[in-house]
Amino acid sequence: MEDKWADLFERIDACRNCELCKTRINTVPGMGNPEADIMFVGEAPGAEEDYQGRPFVGASGQLLDQMMNSIHLNRENTYITNIIKCRPPRNRTPLPEEAQVCMPYFREQVRLVRPKIIVALGATAAKYLIDSNIAITKQRGIWVERKGLHMIATFHPSYLLRDQSQKRLAWADFKSIRDKMKELGISPERSTDDE
Ligand code: URA
Repeated sequence: MEDKWADLFERIDACRNCELCKTRINTVPGMGNPEADIMFVGEAPGAEEDYQGRPFVGASGQLLDQMMNSIHLNRENTYITNIIKCRPPRNRTPLPEEAQVCMPYFREQVRLVRPKIIVALGATAAKYLIDSNIAITKQRGIWVERKGLHMIATFHPSYLLRDQSQKRLAWADFKSIRDKMKELGISPERSTDDE
């Protein structure tokens, strides 16, 4: 399994399938527990993530950590990645063609991790994972099941930093994630590496 991860990360690093490779500092493949039951998926790396090569390490990552911690999740018992592995210039929304060439890497991550729950953070992740016409304000917090994989969309933490009034709804979504974990028999303690 380790070989498969190393091979995937090498291919992402060597990827020249879209223009984003010209402006990135680092690729940001993903991080966390490769056997996690829960995967969090954002849009694309920002400046700090591009600099460090790790997802959600800037301000929105700190908020994500807080929200995950509130339901006993952390970077050791989850897997965190983005739809797009390279930073779009000036953090613009990724183009559909960029998502198209990058999605195979994400799909491979899902095949390797085999999560039971995927949380789409924000409209872009929700659009590519759940419904191409999704309206995040209306459809966040609603569970969708596909082939035994449970998916939910919630607001992106960077949106919550801009509009604090939406935090209440995001907390409700995290409580719903906690309940779904319980329903599926997922105990955060059990999804750490110490099994
Ligand atoms: N926003 C994202 O969608 N992903 C990151 O990794 C950081 C900020």
